[in-house]
Amino acid sequence: MRDRGDGGPAVEVRNLRRVYRVKAGERVALDSVSFSVEQGELFGILGPNGAGKTTLVRVLSTLLHPTSGTARVLGLDVVGGQRQLRRRIGILFGGERGLYTRVTARQNLRYFAGLYGIPRRTADPRIDRLLHDVGLADRADEKVETYSRGMKQRLHLARVLVHDPDIVFLDEPTIGLDPIVAREVRRLITGLPQRGKTVLLTSHYMFEAEALCRRVMVVDSGHVVALDTPEALRRGHPDMACVDVDLLESAPDVEARMRRLVGAEGAVSLRTEGERQILTVQSTKGADLVPELHHALADCRLGVVSVREPTLEDVYVRLVSESRHGAAGRAPERTGR
Ligand SMILES: Nc1ncnc2c1ncn2[C@@H]1O[C@H](COP(=O)(O)OP(=O)(O)OP(=O)(O)O)[C@@H](O)[C@H]1O
Ligand SMILES: [Mg+2]
Repeated sequence: MRDRGDGGPAVEVRNLRRVYRVKAGERVALDSVSFSVEQGELFGILGPNGAGKTTLVRVLSTLLHPTSGTARVLGLDVVGGQRQLRRRIGILFGGERGLYTRVTARQNLRYFAGLYGIPRRTADPRIDRLLHDVGLADRADEKVETYSRGMKQRLHLARVLVHDPDIVFLDEPTIGLDPIVAREVRRLITGLPQRGKTVLLTSHYMFEAEALCRRVMVVDSGHVVALDTPEALRRGHPDMACVDVDLLESAPDVEARMRRLVGAEGAVSLRTEGERQILTVQSTKGADLVPELHHALADCRLGVVSVREPTLEDVYVRLVSESRHGAAGRAPERTGR
């Protein structure tokens, strides 16, 4: 690995602000963002739609300049060191764009290696290995237009690695993939730190963040809301328990009633799973909440009511809810499990 040489962090962000110019004036996408990522770390960036995750990835990968504040990657400033940095970073944005579909996978990878000035004698064996690693060796000489979406995503991952970057930014790398392909992509991502690479990953899947990332940062409305290991975030509030309630028929104000019940430090969210509506109430009352809950929802038909420990997803819902509306706030819609 060509590290930054002094053992310092792979990413150092201080007071970063990024504003987009829009018709109505300015839109602040990132504000007062500070954090750092160690070399070889697999670091997750979580947050609701519009939180600023992609903007952050674009700033760190030199595609957007900060409005103010500083961001250093591998010891280089993302503005001043842009040219040197570009060859040392790999970027993957979710979706299908960015590949040449009329040519083969191998031709795509040779093309991208060529853009980085990598000689064929170095590129060809590396491309062979990458195609093998992403499970495309036997289809390598077929046109990409004949590939399934999952195959294209795996080819994207090979493309990100073709110039042997020291740090890779993966913006929702498993979005839209079937569970089996998503699992394969995750397996490939898990192996990257062992090859000396630092990985920054955005995701809406909490289980993915928990499975892959050493630490996760939660952002909302351009601000850092929390940053720690998934385990520490879960343990951060050891008294917190979750009660799941199966609502057999919907009642309009159940969330508001529950919010009143759990008060400032709790959180309430409602999600639909098929025909079922599941209300999740987080509070420090634990099992004691159950009789109170039955009382408060006496006019609703309830199915199973169960008490469990919070998952990272519950913690996320609570953190975002608190950041948006103060501690007694309304929870956003829950993301997929
Ligand atoms: N090119 C742009 N011009 C104006 N506003 C933008 C632009 N790109 C992003 N924004 C705004 O900046 C904010 C952050 O957007 P960003 O794409 O970084 O969010 P995100 O966390 O990646 O969201 P998602 O989970 O939906 O991908 C949003 O309010 C978005 O509308
Ligand atoms: Mg995004």
